[in-house]
Amino acid sequence: MEKWIVKTNKCTSELIAHNGNKFLIGNGYFGLRGTLEEHTKAHMCAINLAGIYDKAGDSWRESVNAPNVLHTVAKFDNETYILPENSPILHEQKLDFYNALHSRTTSWKTKKGVVTINSERFASMKRQHIICVKFTVCADYDCRAEIKTGIDGDVWDINGPHFAEILTKYEDKIKYVTGITGEKGISVTSCEYVTGDFECESNTECHKDSVFETLIFDIKANREYSFTKICAVYTSADENKFDDEIKSFTYEQLKKEHADTWHQIWNISEVEIIGDDEAMHNLNYSIYHLNCIAPRNLSSMSIPARGLSGQVYKGAVFWDTEMFMIDYFLHTEPQIAKTLIKYRIDTLDGARIKAKEYGLDGAYYAWESQEGGFEACSDYNVTDVFTKRPMRTHFRDKQYHVSAAVVYAICKYIEATGDISFLVDGGAEVIIECARMYRSLLIKKADNPYYEIHDVVGPDEYHERVNNNAYTNRMAKLVFDTAIDTINILKEKYEDCYIELDAKYNFETLMHIFKDSSKNIYIPQPDERNLIEQFDGYFNLEDVSVDTVRSRLLDPKEYWGGAYGVASQTQVIKQADVVAMLGIFSNEYENEILENNFRYYEPRTEHGSSLSACMYSLLSCKIGNSEIAYPFFMKSASADLCTGGKEWAGLIYIGGTHPASEGGAWIVAIKGFAGITARDGKLCCNPCLPKKWQSMRFKFKYLNKLYQIKIDKKTGTITEI
Ligand code: IFM
Repeated sequence: MEKWIVKTNKCTSELIAHNGNKFLIGNGYFGLRGTLEEHTKAHMCAINLAGIYDKAGDSWRESVNAPNVLHTVAKFDNETYILPENSPILHEQKLDFYNALHSRTTSWKTKKGVVTINSERFASMKRQHIICVKFTVCADYDCRAEIKTGIDGDVWDINGPHFAEILTKYEDKIKYVTGITGEKGISVTSCEYVTGDFECESNTECHKDSVFETLIFDIKANREYSFTKICAVYTSADENKFDDEIKSFTYEQLKKEHADTWHQIWNISEVEIIGDDEAMHNLNYSIYHLNCIAPRNLSSMSIPARGLSGQVYKGAVFWDTEMFMIDYFLHTEPQIAKTLIKYRIDTLDGARIKAKEYGLDGAYYAWESQEGGFEACSDYNVTDVFTKRPMRTHFRDKQYHVSAAVVYAICKYIEATGDISFLVDGGAEVIIECARMYRSLLIKKADNPYYEIHDVVGPDEYHERVNNNAYTNRMAKLVFDTAIDTINILKEKYEDCYIELDAKYNFETLMHIFKDSSKNIYIPQPDERNLIEQFDGYFNLEDVSVDTVRSRLLDPKEYWGGAYGVASQTQVIKQADVVAMLGIFSNEYENEILENNFRYYEPRTEHGSSLSACMYSLLSCKIGNSEIAYPFFMKSASADLCTGGKEWAGLIYIGGTHPASEGGAWIVAIKGFAGITARDGKLCCNPCLPKKWQSMRFKFKYLNKLYQIKIDKKTGTITEI
C-alpha cells in the first residue's frame, strides 16, 4: 500500500458507482464524484452542491448537481476510446489524498499502435468555486486526434430533472452552461476556459443543454499534447460570479495553492499510527473525506449524511453530523464545528414548525433536514420490493432523538471550545426549545410516579413505535439537564439574554418543569443479568440470530424493518442503540454492565447502518478490549474503500460516501484507542491500543490551544504547541 494513495486498475460497469464515491474530490462547496471524463449521467457523474435543493414535480426534494465540466471524449483517427466499453491495455485511476489530486491514465491498443490519455483534476481547496483539469493525450505513432470537451448540462439526478431551463453560451472563449431550478429559480452555472500547449483547430458549439469544443490536431508519435480547463461553479445564491476571472489563473498556480492549503489542513489533522500502516491509511483517508465536505467558507451550513457524493438521502442532513462527524472538527478546526451548529440554530424555526405539526411544544428537528430546516423525510420513505408501493415508515414522525443530538452537539462544542457566548447567539434557545419538545412527549400513567416516552423509533430503525427506548429517554434527560444548566449560565453571565428569554419563556416555571422532567423521567435500568432492555418488551421478542433473520428474506433488497419486516418481531436490531447510549454515558455504569450489554447486543446487531460499527468499537475500548474494538474500527474507517456496503433500503438506492462512519472512526481512534478525554478543562489520556499499534501521534485542539499528543502502549504525553 502506497502512503496517501488509493488506486484501482478496474473500471467495469459494476464498479463505476463505487469508484465515484471512493475517488471523490471536494471542497465543501461541492463534491465531484470520481467518475471518468468520458462518463455521463448514466455513470452517475455529479458535481453535487452543498445546500442547494430543488423539487421536481411530485418527486422527493433533493440536492442539485451542477452542469458537468469534466466531460471529455478522445478520438484517434476517428475511433472513440472510452471506458468501460473499450478494453484498455493499461488503466489506473488514482487519488492522492494528501494533495487531494485525482488522476487517471488509460492506454488502448489500436490497429496502428498504442494511444494514451491522461488526466489530473482537483477541486480547489483555496478557491471553493474552482475545478481544474489537465488532460493529456499521446500516441506511439502519428495520427489525428479529435478531442471533444466541454460542459454537459444533462446531469444525473435521482429525482430530477431539476433544471426547468438551461441556458448556454460561449463568450470571450469561456463556455457557460446555466441550469435554472424549477422550484425556486436558482441559477446554477458551470463555466470553463480551455488553453492548450499546442496548435490545433478548434470549433465550439452551443447546444440546448451543453457547450462543447472540439480540438482537432495531428499527433506526432510519442509527443504529449496537454490542455487545461479552469472551471468555476457558482449559483445565484453566491456573491461571486466568474467570467474573465478564470482566465487569470494558471493551472500550476492553482495546483500549488490548492496543495499548500491541504498541507495546512493535514498539519493539524493527520493521525500517525506506528505499527499499522493499513489502519493509518484508512483513518487518514476517512479524514480526507471529512475535509472534502467540510463547510469551511461559510458560517452556517451542515453536512449531508452521504456527504457531497450525490443525491442519496435527498442530500439531507441527519443526526449523523452531530453524533458522528462533529467531534473531528471540534478538535481540529472548531470554527467548522461552529458552522455546523449554526446551521441548527438557523433552522430552529423549521424545527418549531415540525413540532407544531405533531402537536408538540418547542423544537423537533427534521429527520432529513434541508435548507431552512425543511423536513425532507417522507412518511413513506422506503419502497416495498414486492408491491413496489411506498411503505409507511416512521423515521420522520418518531425519531425524536434527533433533537437531542443537536443539544448534545452544543454541549460538546462548549466543552471543547469553552465558548459559552454561543448560548447567547441562539444556542440557549435551541436547547430550551428542544427541552420543551421532550417535555411535551412525557407520559405519566395514573399509578406511576415517573414519566415515560411512548411511540418512538430509536437509533435501531427496525423496531418502530416502541415505548421507553433507553437511548431516547436517556438523551431526553440530557436535554433537560442541559436546559437547566443553560438557564443558570444565562442568569449568572448573560443578564440581557436571560431577561429577554425569561420574558418569552418564564424561566421560573420552565426551571421547575425541567427539573421535574429530569428527576422523574424513566431510564431503563440494568436487570438481574445487568442488561438494559432496548425498549419495553424487547426481551420478549423472538431471539434468533442475524443469519436466521437474513435467511427469511424473500428478496435480497427487502427492507428488514417496518410493519412486517423480517427483523421487526425479533431481537435483531439494525444498529447500535443501547450500546450507543452506553458509549455516551459510559462513566455512569460499571464495567460489567457495559460488557454484558455489549456481549448481548452485538450478536443481535445486523450492522445494517454504517453508523453502527464505530459505536461498538468505542464501547469495546471503554471496556478495555482493543482487540474486539479493532475490526469494528477498521470497518468504520474503510466504509468508502471497500465494496459490499449496504446499497438498498427496499427499492431506494442508499449508496454514496459514509462520512458518519468516517467521523466515527476518528472518534474511536482518538477517544477510544488513545483514550483522550477532554473534560472540565483537563485533557487526559488512557490508552487502549490494539496489539499491532506501537504508538500514535496526532494533534488535538482543546479550549483554544493546540496540543501534540503522543500515545504509547500504556501512557501518553500531551504537549501544548
Ligand atoms: O442517520 C442514519 C440512520 O441512523 C440509519 N439510516 C441511515 C441514516 C443516514 O446515515
